[in-house]
Amino acid sequence: MEKDYFIERKPMPFRIKTVEHVKMTTKAEREKLIAEAYYNVFNLKARDVYIDLLTDSGTGAMSKEQWAAIMMGDESYAGADSFLKFKQAINDVLGFDFVLPTHQGRGAENVFTKAFVKEGDIIPGNMHFDTTEAQIEDKKGIGKEFVIDEAYDPQLIHPFKGNVNISKLEQFLQKNRDKVPLFILTVTCNSGGGQPVSMRNIKELSAVLKKFEVPLFFDIARFAENAYFIKHRESGYENKTISEIILEMMSYADVVSCSAKKDPLGNIGGFLAMRTEDYFDKLKPFVILNEGFITYGGLSGRALEALAVGLHESTSEEHLAYRISQVHYLGKLLDDAGIPIVKPVGGHGVFVDGLKFFPHIPQDNFPSQALTVYLYIESGVRGVEIGNLLAGRDPQTGKNRYPKVDTLRLAIPRRVYTNEHMEYVAEGLKKIYKDREKYKGFEMVYEPPFLRHFSAKLKKVE
Ligand code: F0G
Repeated sequence: MEKDYFIERKPMPFRIKTVEHVKMTTKAEREKLIAEAYYNVFNLKARDVYIDLLTDSGTGAMSKEQWAAIMMGDESYAGADSFLKFKQAINDVLGFDFVLPTHQGRGAENVFTKAFVKEGDIIPGNMHFDTTEAQIEDKKGIGKEFVIDEAYDPQLIHPFKGNVNISKLEQFLQKNRDKVPLFILTVTCNSGGGQPVSMRNIKELSAVLKKFEVPLFFDIARFAENAYFIKHRESGYENKTISEIILEMMSYADVVSCSAKKDPLGNIGGFLAMRTEDYFDKLKPFVILNEGFITYGGLSGRALEALAVGLHESTSEEHLAYRISQVHYLGKLLDDAGIPIVKPVGGHGVFVDGLKFFPHIPQDNFPSQALTVYLYIESGVRGVEIGNLLAGRDPQTGKNRYPKVDTLRLAIPRRVYTNEHMEYVAEGLKKIYKDREKYKGFEMVYEPPFLRHFSAKLKKVE
């Protein structure tokens, strides 16, 4: 039998101290609520959601150490202590000497694309996340994917589906080097299902980019989860600590861009970090212009304090073991029920294959969005479509993009839900799967010009 790479259940390394009550709704109420939201889960009120798996971004639970640190927030405009602690934490955990805070990940992306991307440039990466792609397109550049072919086959088992196809990239650079200002490696690769990149691939990528003198940027929203996968799947790393693996990964990056709302356990925040002063000097003016002075970047001293603590907590092996094993527990429950999911399960969520789940719904009628809507109606669980609706249109041709991996993403917030919640999520999907032929697709009645999934309005196909 093929190795499926499911990570077995691990103990929960924390106990629950504060309770946040949630409202229970009936199926009839949810039918009405989602219709009023034009069948777009972004339009729902969070209070009408029972288990919120919309995103793992900014939705984690902070530790008592983080809450305590918040009380130490230094709100000085320039040179605040809170910034110095934040900078030190980035230096300790990631090894970079130069740090620029930003209000969140896309703030960092806006800054570095402004500084480095000009009209007609091509920005290669494994797979850009949608905000990264949109920032590149905003500067009139073009994003290009170089992830390995295995990433496009949701059922194909491979330990590092976020890896870059190095030979394809090399051929591309031989012809197009002059149009390429930088390469972005996203770890883990969100758009591919939260899939990790191996250390070996990072090394090979770095060598090729050095040869062509192309700077290597990392998007490190989920760097610690990537390190956990390296430790558990890549030979030679089983006895290294997570911290050692993270530092080794980072040693290959020239600049990193981070949404600190994910692995760094913040409710808000982001940053750019770099090894050398020349990058710092190039990026600095855009931080001041768009985010705020370089020692706060749009963040309060309180937020910087919470992140300084969160960055250290994110590297705990026990935390990562429970976190990733919980995601895999949900994946295993669905897989055992025959529900088609992206395999292996990634680090931050389970991606259900909408095209296989609803083969009778054409991709133009948003099968994964349909699944997202029906799961909310069935059980009050909010996931998000990562498929045709999110992919949007090609800016050159204006035509819909048809992603090969078209999914409902169930992203699990860090330290928020128990495995009992995961069982409830699985039960809802199982019910829908049993009668899957009876469900219909959707069509758009309003489409915004970009990032359309956030505000599109839909109706059921009759
Ligand atoms: N890069 C990656 C890999 C991301 O997953 C995200 C956000 C960003 C950049 C942008 O960061 O939200 O702080 O501005 N991903 C969220 C998600 C929204 O749900 O996956 P941001």
